Amino acid sequence: MTNLWSGRFDTAPDAETFEFGSSFRFDRRLFEDDVTGSVAWARALGAAGVLPGDEARQIETALTEILERGRIDPSFVDGPDEDVHSFVERLLVERLGDAGRRLHTGRSRNEQVSVDLRLYLLRRIPLLQRSLGRVVAALAAQAASAGDALMPAFTHLRPAQPVLVAHFFLAHAAALRRDHARLHAARDESDALPLGSGAIAGTSYAVNVEALARDLGFSRVVANSIDASSDRDFAATFMYASALTMVHLSRLAEDLVIFCGDAHRFFELSDALSTGSSMMPQKKNPDPLELVRGKTGRAIGHLVGLLTTMKGLPSGYNKDLQEDKQSVFDTEDTLAGSLAAVRSVVHGLTLNREQAEAAASGLLLATDVADYLVGRGVPFRRAHEIVGALVRKLVAERREFGSLSLEEWRASSDRFDADVVARVTPRVSVGAKRTPQSTAPGAVQAALEDVQRWAIRAAG
Ligand code: ARG
Repeated sequence: MTNLWSGRFDTAPDAETFEFGSSFRFDRRLFEDDVTGSVAWARALGAAGVLPGDEARQIETALTEILERGRIDPSFVDGPDEDVHSFVERLLVERLGDAGRRLHTGRSRNEQVSVDLRLYLLRRIPLLQRSLGRVVAALAAQAASAGDALMPAFTHLRPAQPVLVAHFFLAHAAALRRDHARLHAARDESDALPLGSGAIAGTSYAVNVEALARDLGFSRVVANSIDASSDRDFAATFMYASALTMVHLSRLAEDLVIFCGDAHRFFELSDALSTGSSMMPQKKNPDPLELVRGKTGRAIGHLVGLLTTMKGLPSGYNKDLQEDKQSVFDTEDTLAGSLAAVRSVVHGLTLNREQAEAAASGLLLATDVADYLVGRGVPFRRAHEIVGALVRKLVAERREFGSLSLEEWRASSDRFDADVVARVTPRVSVGAKRTPQSTAPGAVQAALEDVQRWAIRAAG
């Protein structure tokens, strides 16, 4: 068969190597964007007087028909072609003959593949953002239904201080909101029209690229044709935003694996979202969470892969750049699948309030005991020492603060009074916090309302 560049050669390409270099099996995903870009290019050529108006219109009509066929029947987007650009052009020439052969005037596949991928990301990133908004909405719903329930927060995976369960859910929502903003920035970076760059030096036809940008929904035109032909920063930025979102989903998954596990049982996983063991009848495994944790490695790998592909390239287009697409697509699929799974798991969680609150009590109130002494004029370092010694004694005797008599309290410091018992509880601890980012119930309520308002917009 002939291809887009066969005129230069006197023999047909080596079949196996042609297959090695062809990208149609994966870049067919850009079909819609490729047609969209070509329709706009035909119009721009018509407006510039490069194509007679009737030919530009013929091309537009034929491309629209090709797009419709492909939309109705995805198997239509198939053939021996090298890539999606060749495919679309072949169909156009089959329909229009020479008029179809004029479409590529002043244009190169180097900029075409860039415009396609940019258009693709402009359409697809908002879908990921909406799906991320739904995860945040599920976290907010759990936070709301937890009410004033308490649980321990951990540092070094050891019980640290009591917090509201709602505060825990909102912590993950806070990270995901940053991811939403990062995805927005990634979309913004894709939002520049590369057409008009030609193969590398620009185009010799007076195409109005500003109008073309507007026609395609871009808000600006790239700054430099050499840079544009090999710029995949927008793809890398998208993959960074996605990889970091996956890191956050993975950490949420890990928290839930631990907190739903037999050692804690703060939450119960929905049966429908758990899996059993083929051998051990008692098992209820958190497979979807483990998969999200595992797939995070893929997303990070794709980012590192693309950066590595880009790092040694000389200026201008190089075929290495074809490697961008599978990474982008698989990152998108991985993130989309993980967001949906995490949303379902979070939505299906049941709080074991008693279990969580029981774990929020005990020696993790030590900081509050120290704060009590500070309130009575003891310098914090001294208070830390006094309470540290008290904790050492309690650990040795397998006891907790609640079991101390007033004499025992006073033996460690005469600043302790009978009110210490009522002042050192998980609920008082949480209520004593004063800053807006803290677990104080008022602060958490305000944060919850803010997240709920945000999620209504973001989850669409
Ligand atoms: N399939 C190619 C890619 O993905 C399209 C651009 C081809 N350009 C070229 N000069 N061979 O990058």
